[in-house]
Amino acid sequence: MTIWSDLEAAAEARPSILSLFDDPSRAETFSAGAGDLFFDYSKTAITRDTRDKLVALALGRGVGERRDGMFAGAEINETEGRAVLHTALRADSPVIVNGRDVTEAARETLSRMEAFAEGVRAGNPRGPGEPVTDVVNIGIGGSDLGPAMATRALAPFHDGPAVHFVSNVDGADIGDTLARLDPARTLVIVASKTFTTIETMTNARTARDWMAGAVPDPGGRFAALSSASGKAREFGVPPDAIFGFEDWVGGRYSMWGAIGLSLMIAIGPERFGEMLGGSRAIDDHFRSAPPMENMPILLALIGLWHHQFCGFPTRAVLPYEHRLGRLPAYLQQLEMESNGKRVAMDGSALVVDSGPVVWGEPGTNGQHAFYQLIHQGTRIVPCEFMVGASGFELDHHHGLLVANCLAQSEALMKGRGLDEAREMLSGRYHGDELERQAAHRVFPGDRPSTTLVYPRLTPSVLGQIVALYEHRVFVEGVILGINSFDQWGVELGKELATALVPIVGGEKSAGDKDGSTRMLVAKIRGWN
Ligand code: F6P
Repeated sequence: MTIWSDLEAAAEARPSILSLFDDPSRAETFSAGAGDLFFDYSKTAITRDTRDKLVALALGRGVGERRDGMFAGAEINETEGRAVLHTALRADSPVIVNGRDVTEAARETLSRMEAFAEGVRAGNPRGPGEPVTDVVNIGIGGSDLGPAMATRALAPFHDGPAVHFVSNVDGADIGDTLARLDPARTLVIVASKTFTTIETMTNARTARDWMAGAVPDPGGRFAALSSASGKAREFGVPPDAIFGFEDWVGGRYSMWGAIGLSLMIAIGPERFGEMLGGSRAIDDHFRSAPPMENMPILLALIGLWHHQFCGFPTRAVLPYEHRLGRLPAYLQQLEMESNGKRVAMDGSALVVDSGPVVWGEPGTNGQHAFYQLIHQGTRIVPCEFMVGASGFELDHHHGLLVANCLAQSEALMKGRGLDEAREMLSGRYHGDELERQAAHRVFPGDRPSTTLVYPRLTPSVLGQIVALYEHRVFVEGVILGINSFDQWGVELGKELATALVPIVGGEKSAGDKDGSTRMLVAKIRGWN
């Protein structure tokens, strides 16, 4: 039997989670620490034997070699012929690739960003107009989700201008945002690795028109974050406000460098540096900790166990941290754009499932919405809880938050049996009605979850959490044999959208489209 089929058999015969706690050392044995993070995975059906097999699977698939290759700048993004070096953006020692230290340029950009951010924060006018009170970051996907998620997460550390994020090409997004702002006091940051993304460029032009009506030199109130600095210059952004990065930084891995400028303006260079320090601590841990204690590897193995072997199709990320409200969306891009692939690195069809559907919402809000399905639905959803030991305000609220988080994982594991449900209701119902009512109160239990705890959501802790997930996605991709760093699956829709623009606008006929698309175009045009 191969390890893979061994693990399939282990999943088939898995013990109940609760029974595993007969081992008094279960919690200690199935938990791990790294930096300020503590990860409990004891409330899963993973046994010592399964864990050994999962680790053997990871080692057998070359996770260690691949990881070392990534950190050393090997071209592991094979379909695009690129290295994957977002870790170099936060490294504090040289990373030599082809005889060149790639951290030098990254550090230089960081210094320029710091000077720029300090200037904006100090109220120095950028171009014509008054000091900047508001910053609008225009970007989408990786050029939006990272800084938007982190800016919201680190709200207690904001001491700079207000930062707004515009991503959607729906005019409502930029329209609603600009309506509240004064162009003479606004800095627009256009964040786009390629500087061609249609949503971003459309929003950027709209912002430029808005600015042009109000200030004499609108370009002077723009900054650009891009690998295509020539295109940013053509757009009219002054060279000293263009911050570049190399093509070895993938969009969804880019918040550590230039793409983090809006966050840096909000929280200041020092806090931004603390976030980089946090992510670096996890890089070091990932590179040096033995697999059994290596948190990103453990997270990846648990993810694979649940999805590939137990067959649970989705995974919920449930931060008990209101300010991590955008983390599920951020992780959706990180995990699903990275590992939602149908072929292996060599182009052959994937013989196993690719990455899972990732979704979620902060607790406790989710409890009053979709937790019903998590507790009693027919499909099992492995849950990833996270919570800080303390918050930043109102301690008695925080106590409730933590209690709710812990209660959910306990309820998922223990459930409530039919006898207990009958007992609970025996004073109110009898006979058949008692049976009927009791059935609705049964919780099957034995539902897996993991819990990540940390002292408090500081910049450093956020950096640790994000780096942990980045490396987890990487390990999952290596074990599945896929390229986690390309995203060809987004291209077809983009091409078809470009072709549809003149059809929707009525300049071209929909004649060559399928019947459904022709009908929808006709209906929409009719209503216009
Ligand atoms: O369409 C997907 C994508 O390419 C993402 O991978 C990327 O983060 C996003 O679009 C934005 O791209 P850009 O930064 O080049 O505008």
